Amino acid sequence: MIIGVPKEIYPGDRRVALVPAVLPTLAKAGFEVHIQSGAGIEAGYPDSQYADKGAKLVADRAAVFAADIVVQVLCYGSNDLTGKEDLPFFRRDQVLIGFLRPFGSLDVVQEIARAGVTAFSVELMPRTTRAQSMDALSSMGTVCGYKAVLVAADSHPRIFPMLTTAAGTVTPARVFVIGAGVAGLQAIATARRLGAVISAYDLRPAAKEQVQSLGGRFVELPIEAKDAQDARGYATAQDEGFYRRQRELLGKAVQESDVVITAAVIPGKKSPVLVTEDMVKGMAPGSVIVDLAAERGGNCEISEAGKTVVKHGVTIIGAINVAAGVPYHASMMYARNITAFLPHLIKDQKLNLNLEDEIVRETLLTRGGEIVNARVREFFSLPALTP
Ligand SMILES: NC(=O)c1ccc[n+]([C@@H]2O[C@H](COP(=O)([O-])OP(=O)(O)OC[C@H]3O[C@@H](n4cnc5c(N)ncnc54)[C@H](O)[C@@H]3O)[C@@H](O)[C@H]2O)c1
Repeated sequence: MIIGVPKEIYPGDRRVALVPAVLPTLAKAGFEVHIQSGAGIEAGYPDSQYADKGAKLVADRAAVFAADIVVQVLCYGSNDLTGKEDLPFFRRDQVLIGFLRPFGSLDVVQEIARAGVTAFSVELMPRTTRAQSMDALSSMGTVCGYKAVLVAADSHPRIFPMLTTAAGTVTPARVFVIGAGVAGLQAIATARRLGAVISAYDLRPAAKEQVQSLGGRFVELPIEAKDAQDARGYATAQDEGFYRRQRELLGKAVQESDVVITAAVIPGKKSPVLVTEDMVKGMAPGSVIVDLAAERGGNCEISEAGKTVVKHGVTIIGAINVAAGVPYHASMMYARNITAFLPHLIKDQKLNLNLEDEIVRETLLTRGGEIVNARVREFFSLPALTP
């Protein structure tokens, strides 16, 4: 079977879906890889490395899409800027794997379905121990949390660690992380390595121990979320009254911080506003906010997706697609996730749609012209399909 790897076309994205190091494993499993020329170069993987590992380099993008399986990082759907260019290349019954933003736009998911592709959305991977090696969301979250701290440190006018020098003592930066999921926890670990003093908050009580184990102080608020966590481990959406109370209580912690990194998201929902314009006004001049939720509405009331703005003396970075900023390792981790995933889909050189396997069932988004994923159908209020 042929796997096609097109060059990523989301503006500024330097990642690539497969790296040369995974090609021997794929070859052993019977896959041949056709990669678009130059697809890996910006991530640090030149064409020659792919050729050395047996991949065929293909100059023409349309020819890459002639493959049985196409693997991308941002497919049409999650690439909402230029992804549509690939739609005419999609072929009926071809397998497409990547980030597809299944809870984004119904029209777009339907367009993908109508193209007839058998699409697997990596965002839908179950958060189970068995699926851990295939969990691309966690991989990208890890890279994103790391990079967010570097971006913050670079924009901040102060030094992060405490320094004792002949010119006197420099006090450490105070970093506050809101939302201690995969990205938030990696941000805590990275900021700590840089010597900052860390505090963090999450509405899931289970996050407290994880924050503390990384050397952060857990900020406890005297409010309790209703059913804070769903069966998949995700935070559940709360009512506006809860978010209002959260904002009131978070104000002090925000204003005492030099850097605030927000990573509080709810799958498929607009992100809650947790940092208001008034809180920003109360921060010291030169402070920095990195809003990792900017793409989904933002945790900061005045962040702007994809832009860095200075308001009330505070630099607010509306970060989007942050993992693409560390393309070498983001690509490596993603490629390993996909390489672990493929054997669940392909057996004896054929697509094997074993819907008894939750990894297959939950990630399968479209097939035969239809949106077939039960969770996605329910989300968009589409009638359930009869088996
Ligand atoms: N294989 C596995 O078992 C596995 C893999 C990855 C993640 N997980 C778990 O899944 C969970 C979610 O991970 P994620 O990082 O992808 O989540 P996410 O990106 O959906 O959310 C980020 C964080 O924001 C928090 N949050 C949401 N609303 C908030 C609010 N109003 N105030 C404060 N915090 C808020 C969430 O609780 C979460 O911790 C975590 O418990 C994680 O440990 C499990």
